[in-house]
Amino acid sequence: MEVFSKIDDLKKKLKEERKAGKSVGFVPTMGYLHDGHLSLVKQSVKENDLTVVSIFVNPIQFGPEEDFNRYPRDIERDKKLLEKEGVDYLFFPTNEEMYPSGFKTFVEVNELGKKLCGKSRPGHFRGVTTVVLKLFNIVQPDKAYFGQKDAQQAIIIKKMVKDLDLDVDIVVMPIIREEDGLAMSSRNVYLSEEERKNATVLYRSLKETENLIKTGERDSEKVIKRIREIIMSYPKAVIDYIEIVDTEELNPVNPIKGEILIALAVYIGKARLIDNIILEV
Ligand code: PAJ
Repeated sequence: MEVFSKIDDLKKKLKEERKAGKSVGFVPTMGYLHDGHLSLVKQSVKENDLTVVSIFVNPIQFGPEEDFNRYPRDIERDKKLLEKEGVDYLFFPTNEEMYPSGFKTFVEVNELGKKLCGKSRPGHFRGVTTVVLKLFNIVQPDKAYFGQKDAQQAIIIKKMVKDLDLDVDIVVMPIIREEDGLAMSSRNVYLSEEERKNATVLYRSLKETENLIKTGERDSEKVIKRIREIIMSYPKAVIDYIEIVDTEELNPVNPIKGEILIALAVYIGKARLIDNIILEV
């Protein structure tokens, strides 16, 4: 695996590869990799002639009070994991390389970025779409891989690709979970042992919801109330939001019908955890 920190060097290399007829798969990440990230990498390696992964903790998608500085990082471990998966190129730029002084241009998918996580993280999705568009322009991938874990992010990126006529196929892969159901996340390291054990309330609440809906419940408010009860059975959990929305506009749905996204964000100690399920009703 070759590591690039300069945009121009990576662009030059990939231009040669494309000229030689190679298809390019791309997995953008912020590093501190786990099996969720690696499931995307595996799929890309399977589906493309070569795979590019980026590791960049993108400062512009973090709010001033958020965890940019303490976001976990371990580049040497990450490199080994990617090498093992057969990744061809790792892009690992500095902040200055991505945002040289005088950087002024931002991309925003209106409305969608203000819902769900956007309400408590203003500017977050603008930061995500801006960096992802930059990365797409640098790598020019045929396919790019994202996780269902960040459902709103995947929906927003698909919308950006459609609205701006980008030539990339977005592939969304299922959520990879720990054995007890907790969705894998780099941020799970913020949890104490006791918090980690109880963090399963998120998944348990979603699983129960699935059963409720499968057995005929269609009242969103009742479903949300049940989710709330389960999560609050762990007193240290602080709910940011629980919403049942459609998967296009992310608008609340009641009664439940069609393809719905049940999404939630919960603070447990220092960690803000998100989880979701998509159901076809
Ligand atoms: P990061 O949180 O590192 O996640 C990188 C990719 O891995 C995202 O597409 C995310 O949805 C996926 N992922 C994370 N946990 C997962 C899990 N448990 N199962 C399946 N996929 C999972 O998302 C970002 O970085 C950034 O916002 C980024 C897109 C790189 C832009 O900075």
